Amino acid sequence: MKSQKLISDQFDPNNRVVVYHGDCLRLLDQMPDESVQLVVTSPPYNLGKEYEKRLRIDKYVEQQAEVIRQCVRVLSPGGSICWQVGNYVDKGEIFPLDTLLFPVFRNLGMHLRNRIIWHFEHGLHCTNRYSGRYETVNWFTKSDKFVFNLDPVRVPQKYPGKKHFKGPKAGQYSGNPLGKNPGDVWAIPNVKSNHVEKTEHPCQYPVELVERLVLSLSNEGDTVFDPFLGVGSSAIAAIRHNRKAVGSELMTKYVAIARERIVGELAGTLKTRPMGRPVYDPADAGNKLTVRPWATSSNVVQLRLVEQPKKRYRIK
Ligand SMILES: C[S@@+](CC[C@H](N)C(=O)[O-])C[C@H]1O[C@@H](n2cnc3c(N)ncnc32)[C@H](O)[C@@H]1O
Repeated sequence: MKSQKLISDQFDPNNRVVVYHGDCLRLLDQMPDESVQLVVTSPPYNLGKEYEKRLRIDKYVEQQAEVIRQCVRVLSPGGSICWQVGNYVDKGEIFPLDTLLFPVFRNLGMHLRNRIIWHFEHGLHCTNRYSGRYETVNWFTKSDKFVFNLDPVRVPQKYPGKKHFKGPKAGQYSGNPLGKNPGDVWAIPNVKSNHVEKTEHPCQYPVELVERLVLSLSNEGDTVFDPFLGVGSSAIAAIRHNRKAVGSELMTKYVAIARERIVGELAGTLKTRPMGRPVYDPADAGNKLTVRPWATSSNVVQLRLVEQPKKRYRIK
């Protein structure tokens, strides 16, 4: 089949795409030292999902440490690891996985460059605590000399027309014409039911989240590795930007979906949410469902003022 030729199922440094069906540690056994520029992944969170066995939290950290140790080994000296995690939850108590895993990375000599807050609007509605609406991307480098390409990931300034008002540059535009640094808080929709990328995987991350990391932390032709590949989102972002993609996934059904999506990406037919598209604002879009059916026009105004004090509001 065509997809078999396009996608190698064992590590091959010359192949554009490798999807290994099995344990990431077995794929890592095949990978030479310093062969990868960027590791980007979202591991299991020890929540007892269908693809993981819930462990005592110290055992989970030990298991993660073994994978992280091997990822550091295969990472090139100028390379980066982005470990995207949320919370482990036990009896309503949260344990942020980035805080538990930080010592593992530090003990392996890795340097934390950013702890990016990935903010999204959708998820479980909690009743005994605030609903979780962010996770983190923990960006570590192997050394102090690392790839960081800012220009390809710049975003539009809030006031692009702003000018220097005094000094030798007075009258000139003060911002970079390519845009500004996106900062370390990223508002990107998570992959829930209506998202164009949604598959049957319960915990996909969006391709656009990985695209920004791929563009800034690697160069064309480099290898991007995801040990916990799921349905292939990291590989898709890598391929789209002319990097080589390597990944491993345990579950047969996710391997099949990953392969299918990768074939679509290579053919240019895969649909994803485009990078840089503003987050949908139902009130600004005039969505009628934003008006409370049970509210009178006077308390609609009041409720909106309390919840969104800076926003324009409309009485319908
Ligand atoms: C949080 S999901 C990653 C989803 C992925 N980011 C995506 O967008 O599809 C973690 C994945 O790791 C896989 N997995 C768990 N343990 C693994 C292991 N030891 N080796 C390879 N894959 C594993 C799970 O089956 C699951 O699909």
